[in-house]
Amino acid sequence: MPNYISTGIPGVDELLEGRGIPEGHIVFLLGSPGSGKTTFALQMLYKGATEYNEPGVFITLDESPRRILDNASSFTWNLRELKDEGKILFIDASPIKGLKGLGTSQDKNIAIGKKDFSLDTLVDMIETSVKEIGAKRLVVDPLASLMLEYPKVVDRRKAILELMEAISRTNCTALLVSELAHASLERKYQIEEYLAQGVMVLQRVVRSEGLNRIFQVEKMRGINHDSELHPYKINKDGINIFARERIV
Ligand SMILES: Nc1ncnc2c1ncn2[C@@H]1O[C@H](COP(=O)(O)OP(=O)(O)O)[C@@H](O)[C@H]1O
Ligand SMILES: [Mg+2]
Repeated sequence: MPNYISTGIPGVDELLEGRGIPEGHIVFLLGSPGSGKTTFALQMLYKGATEYNEPGVFITLDESPRRILDNASSFTWNLRELKDEGKILFIDASPIKGLKGLGTSQDKNIAIGKKDFSLDTLVDMIETSVKEIGAKRLVVDPLASLMLEYPKVVDRRKAILELMEAISRTNCTALLVSELAHASLERKYQIEEYLAQGVMVLQRVVRSEGLNRIFQVEKMRGINHDSELHPYKINKDGINIFARERIV
């Protein structure tokens, strides 16, 4: 029997056979801007650290950890305290973006045999930080900004697989946050969705009745999950998925 990692987000475990995410899975959390991806990821680390004694690492690629903590201060979570206690480690990986640019296009000599600096550095950061606090949960937010460095699908696929292999070696259960390329209920699947063991989607959809926030577990290997569309709300305690309500 595999172990399961409770997301700690009201409603989500209910959609996952009442268990949670199979331990060690790498799950993509896709969503439109402002849909609550960062909130979801922080909430999962917060619950892990406070309720399950599972330390977590949050790797941020866009905003500084300080910005993330400032933005999250409207929630009822004591993230700064957990950070000081070493239960959640925030890692600023934003400087690595663009490292790949070293000699990629113009300077052919450097480009030959060049290593993929930004991905290697990210992998190092993940390994070191997970070891440092004995993390069981890992978030990378947002992956999209690193993936922009791989315009070709074939390169992107390779980079994602390399990253996933590195994360697998840590035995952490991971959330990789990414932007949804097409914000609509009818959309094309992205490469991430084929490669991941799990995919959860947060969307803001404008409909005739007004703005709807919609959550879906699109994929979760190893579990007979619910894949219906469910409404969700964000309040001072974070995200709340209404597992018993459906959007049709
Ligand atoms: N204390 C709060 N109460 C209710 N909603 C909030 C609160 N704090 C943030 N939000 C909502 O969360 C949204 C931002 O979520 P965020 O996780 O940053 O989105 P994303 O990472 O997908 O861009 C905001 O648009 C806002 O509507
Ligand atoms: Mg965000």
